[in-house]
Amino acid sequence: MKKLLICLISVAIAINVMAQSNNNAEINKGKVKLKFELDEKGRPGYSLYFDGKTVIQHSLLGLNLVGDSEFSNQLAIVAIEKTSVDKQWNPVWGEVNTINDNHEQLTVKLKQKNSPNKLINIVFRVFNDGVGFRYEFPKQPGLKYFTVAEELTEFHLTADHKAFWIPADYDTNEYKYTTSSLSKIDAFAVSKIATDIAVRVVPDQNGVQTPLMLKSANGLYINIHEAALINYPAMQLHVNKADFNLTAQLVPDATGNKAYLYAPFKTPWRTILVSNKAVDILASKTILNLNEPSVIEKTDWIKPMKFAGVWWEYQTGKSTWSYADRADTLDASGNLLPNGKHGANTANVKKYIDFASVNGLQGVLVEGWNYGWEDWFGNWKENVFNFTKPYPDFDVKEITDYAATKGVKMIMHNETSGSATDYERQLDTAYKFMNKFGYPAVKTGYVGKIIPRGEHHDGQWMINHYERVLQKAAKHNVTVDAHEAVRPTGLHRTYPNFVASEAGRGNEYNAFSDGNPPEHETILPFTRLMGGPMDYTPGIFKLKGYAAGMPTRQVHTTLAKQLALYVTIYSPLQMAADLPENYQAYMDAFQFIKDVAVDWDDSKIIEAEPGDYVTIARKAKGTSNWYIGAITDENSRTAVIPLNFLDKDKKYVATLYLDADNADWQNNPQAYKITQYIVSPKSLLKLKLAQGGGAAVSIRPLQANEKVNFKQYK
Ligand code: NOJ
Ligand code: CA
Repeated sequence: MKKLLICLISVAIAINVMAQSNNNAEINKGKVKLKFELDEKGRPGYSLYFDGKTVIQHSLLGLNLVGDSEFSNQLAIVAIEKTSVDKQWNPVWGEVNTINDNHEQLTVKLKQKNSPNKLINIVFRVFNDGVGFRYEFPKQPGLKYFTVAEELTEFHLTADHKAFWIPADYDTNEYKYTTSSLSKIDAFAVSKIATDIAVRVVPDQNGVQTPLMLKSANGLYINIHEAALINYPAMQLHVNKADFNLTAQLVPDATGNKAYLYAPFKTPWRTILVSNKAVDILASKTILNLNEPSVIEKTDWIKPMKFAGVWWEYQTGKSTWSYADRADTLDASGNLLPNGKHGANTANVKKYIDFASVNGLQGVLVEGWNYGWEDWFGNWKENVFNFTKPYPDFDVKEITDYAATKGVKMIMHNETSGSATDYERQLDTAYKFMNKFGYPAVKTGYVGKIIPRGEHHDGQWMINHYERVLQKAAKHNVTVDAHEAVRPTGLHRTYPNFVASEAGRGNEYNAFSDGNPPEHETILPFTRLMGGPMDYTPGIFKLKGYAAGMPTRQVHTTLAKQLALYVTIYSPLQMAADLPENYQAYMDAFQFIKDVAVDWDDSKIIEAEPGDYVTIARKAKGTSNWYIGAITDENSRTAVIPLNFLDKDKKYVATLYLDADNADWQNNPQAYKITQYIVSPKSLLKLKLAQGGGAAVSIRPLQANEKVNFKQYK
């Protein structure tokens, strides 16, 4: 069994300082300084500094409970404890094979002055690149079960920073990012024009979601998010435009309450990452470090993979998810009337299995295989989908047997149309069905409003639902890719079978809407991806004219940029999303998708600027091969990549997949060129990226005695 957690060095010193007279405490870690202070009104607060610059000025902390119990003022310090941790651990899969967890912890134990048997702790962990802090309700006689009315956490910024934001929506993250100063945020204006999103609840004009990426005029990159979101609603932020104080807003339930809890309880961590270099934000492992180690002991069944799928043909109108156009029109024997356009038929699925098998893709996803698609979208009904009943033209046994002979794993699809209660009723049978037919992975979906009615995708009830699904899946050795679920918070450390999720605006928006602007993929790593991998579904090669009846619709990237996304958008589950026939004319470029890894020993963030460009190099797990992805926004640029991470004194063969000289995303997106060179750690690649373009590079060691006629890269 693979050892999950290797604790190399762990130092823990506990200093129990009884109530300090000045009610202050301070922690320094590298360039980061955190100050805690309890003011004269008994209100806890903190401030954060980086390299002498203020990141967060004095900001209040606390929570108020329903029923007048306030843990935000009139508090007194019981004790302050400090501990240090310096250890390493190995993720089951990831961007690197070893993660350092090196932090200083400050625990402030507080009690209510007027009810001294009511207790709360505030725990800070200070890392070299930021801080995480959370509230803990210890087991206590004064509080057994309680309801959170408000969390009062503040993040008081120093100025009108540039922000990369999406509206604070209780139900979806599927927005384009707006880049504006904090004072120009207008969530209503954005949500009003986002007509392509099925569910929208945006109650606060000055509300934004996390991860929120910020850049200050004095050169700081600041990222605010949360870690280990368990049994609690997601945190959004209200921006006070008068003083740039951001306050936590928890997603409520139908009654307006935020969370129903029992002591002992620990809230998720609030995270603030900071650096003067954008690349440090992308390299940060603090959010993962703040999550608990894996609760799954045996993890060797969890396999990162690339997959093809009966999917993009639905998105582009070639075929349908549904077997029948109507649920209420049946033939004389009471059967659905087939529409003749159903994509998930046995013969078509076999074509995808063949394609995956020939090209070394490990999996095939099939959507639209089960009853329910004739009666789902927007209906807000329970019991629509049956997760064990295939349509008559989908022979699950035959498909499973065929896939097995081809060495391909099938990926299950469970679209719930928001009826989470119905899904929970079917969980047991659904996962037994997956086991019976050999499906090691499931893509779940929550399109539409949530049932139970009044709940939101990002409220406490659904957060618990997503965790229950992960637990059930783990019991059945199934990995999960959740669509329309809450945005991730590093929980894949605790549940490594949580291999990906959507929770953002994926490539699919280029099929059914005006699409994702070229800068979109340069912002995602700084926002959505901070919490965990994304099933973005890259690899579209037919970039224009793919959508039936929509001749002008196009993907807003070049083909080379689609390749680069396999590296810049990290996920252990990556789709080759286009139709097999659309790859046929470009098999030389498809070679990169065949070769690129999905699990890594190391990752180097070479250069990055949110909204402008991202260049990342990654070393494939257990090999000496490297893959590089470089992407740009609507502006062309040259990515400059020193290969100094390669082994000293070694020679390598580099294959460069580049935008052709005359390529650009709008008019000539499919023009690319492929060249090969000998490279060494001394090489400095200078790759020209077209407008909306990108570059992908694969690098492998030159074999001893291998004769090649490529030139040395100059
Ligand atoms: C939206 C998902 O993002 C997409 O991938 C899926 O095909 C549809 N819902 C149907 O479940
Ligand atoms: Ca830009």
